Amino acid sequence: MTDPQLDAVQAQALDDISAARTLAELEAARVAHTGRRSPLATTLAGIGALPPERRGAVGKAANAVRRAVEAALAARTEELEAEELGAALERDTTDVTLPGDPHPLGALHPITQVRQEMEDILMGLGYRVADGPEVETDWHVFTALNTPEGHPARSPSDTFFIDGRPDRLLRTQTSPVQVREMQRSEPPIYLVAPGPVYRRDDIDATHSPMFHQMEGLAVDEGLTLAHLKGTMLRFFRELLGGEREILLQPHFFPFTEPSVDVQVSYVDKSGRTGWLELAGAGMVDPNVLRYCGIDAERYTGFAFGCGLDRIAMIRFGVPDLRLFFENDLRFLEQFA
Ligand code: DAH
Repeated sequence: MTDPQLDAVQAQALDDISAARTLAELEAARVAHTGRRSPLATTLAGIGALPPERRGAVGKAANAVRRAVEAALAARTEELEAEELGAALERDTTDVTLPGDPHPLGALHPITQVRQEMEDILMGLGYRVADGPEVETDWHVFTALNTPEGHPARSPSDTFFIDGRPDRLLRTQTSPVQVREMQRSEPPIYLVAPGPVYRRDDIDATHSPMFHQMEGLAVDEGLTLAHLKGTMLRFFRELLGGEREILLQPHFFPFTEPSVDVQVSYVDKSGRTGWLELAGAGMVDPNVLRYCGIDAERYTGFAFGCGLDRIAMIRFGVPDLRLFFENDLRFLEQFA
């Protein structure tokens, strides 16, 4: 090949290389201009067959073309790779400066907060948390708790019975958890059982057909009313403030003897002291121990039950119980 021909080969190769718009097009140009069948390769391969005096000049010229073409290929490869990377990045961009989608954070319901606090206090005194069914048998809710047939608490005007199952009802108190736990375990028993209960109460600001109670039960050797009083004092002071006093007033519950109302002191805005009735309690009636298979000669027990919602109302200064159950976020968010 003559010099002008080699110049033309180089010019064509450089044109095709710079005209390539993609790496695939560039590869085609590389094959056409430097591949085994390209004019350049043929020229280089044919050098040996040239007359000796032409070999040096043609070889030099052809090698110069090869270097120029290879340099152009390398440069264009780099350009096209950078372009393709840029395009890919553009396609996949995420604008990290855009504001994210807001993710609302949940929080514990105020009743749950109070329940957990009560559990914590009693667990600190060695109690464990127990649970029982909300659909109960009348034996667990009434009979085993020393509430015989004909007792007014069993009246259908107070209790939700399950249709077609006269012995099944929505528990009206958490006390049946005492029964289930005494049946399945041996003293010493120290348990607390919070949960929902159901009564056909008129709906007004302080009543709802579903509300929450927390039951406590201690069965051990030598327990007396003094232990009950000490426990109640400690419990209400930790929950509502160390300045609280408690007062036990005689009362009646079928499952305790003696039974008391636990009243907790409060000071109103004008500085006057009053008493809030916050729990029912008493020494577990030996009949109940016997119903549950516990040796009533050896063991004594005390029990208490309080309304969780009522305590949450006092705790958070909420005047209407129903607010807790309407699930209006504007109300609930205040306790988040
Ligand atoms: N179960 C009672 C109620 O619903 C509350 C109660 C009173 C529970 C005295 C007790 C107790 O464990 O000893 O009114």
